[in-house]
Amino acid sequence: MKFFADTADLAEIRDLAETGLLDGVTTNPSLIAKSGGKFLDVIAAIAKLIDGPISAEVTATEAKAMIEEGLKLSDIARNVAIKVPLTWDGLKACKALTARGIMVNVTLCFSANQALLAAKAGATFISPFVGRLDDIGQTGMDLIREIRTIYDNYGFATEILVASIRHPIHVKEAALIGADIATVPPAVLKTLAQHVLTDKGLAQFLADWKKTGQSIL
Ligand code: E4P
Repeated sequence: MKFFADTADLAEIRDLAETGLLDGVTTNPSLIAKSGGKFLDVIAAIAKLIDGPISAEVTATEAKAMIEEGLKLSDIARNVAIKVPLTWDGLKACKALTARGIMVNVTLCFSANQALLAAKAGATFISPFVGRLDDIGQTGMDLIREIRTIYDNYGFATEILVASIRHPIHVKEAALIGADIATVPPAVLKTLAQHVLTDKGLAQFLADWKKTGQSIL
């Protein structure tokens, strides 16, 4: 499973990149606003840090303008993926941009039928939002299972990019289902490394090592 960082914060991206665990980055207009930076500059700066896909989202709502914005954003770096919303116009823009060889991430997906349309429109990535479905009392992970089945039934190459991840269980379940990518907030990504028995075991090893009076270096 690939990990993308769901953030536009450069310091966080730099920190995660050092682990070698990061395969890409996703941003959205809310994350750009939170970063406080200028959209195009922020994407360009992320592109200097990360080789993998970096999602930059259009803000137009009509296909023609989405395509224009997408072309401008894709000029920033070769690894920019254009994010378009899962609307009728977004699907048209997806088709047009992928036809030009540009990666497209179709976002704000909340149903299996929406995901089916995105795949047929040639999407590189589909972003189903699991956390926001959980928020309204639906089981977001059921959607990932449905999309996995549909894409496998027809051999669609569109990658399932699980979005709106809120906690480590989302990551584990997405991996068990066979989702291609999880885009994870940095704080959640870091919790994946944590276990109380790891901390306890390490404390014991260090205490016993100290008793030996030795040092490795
Ligand atoms: C990323 O592509 C999505 O925009 C993001 O995961 C949404 O997360 P949220 O529902 O926590 O805002």
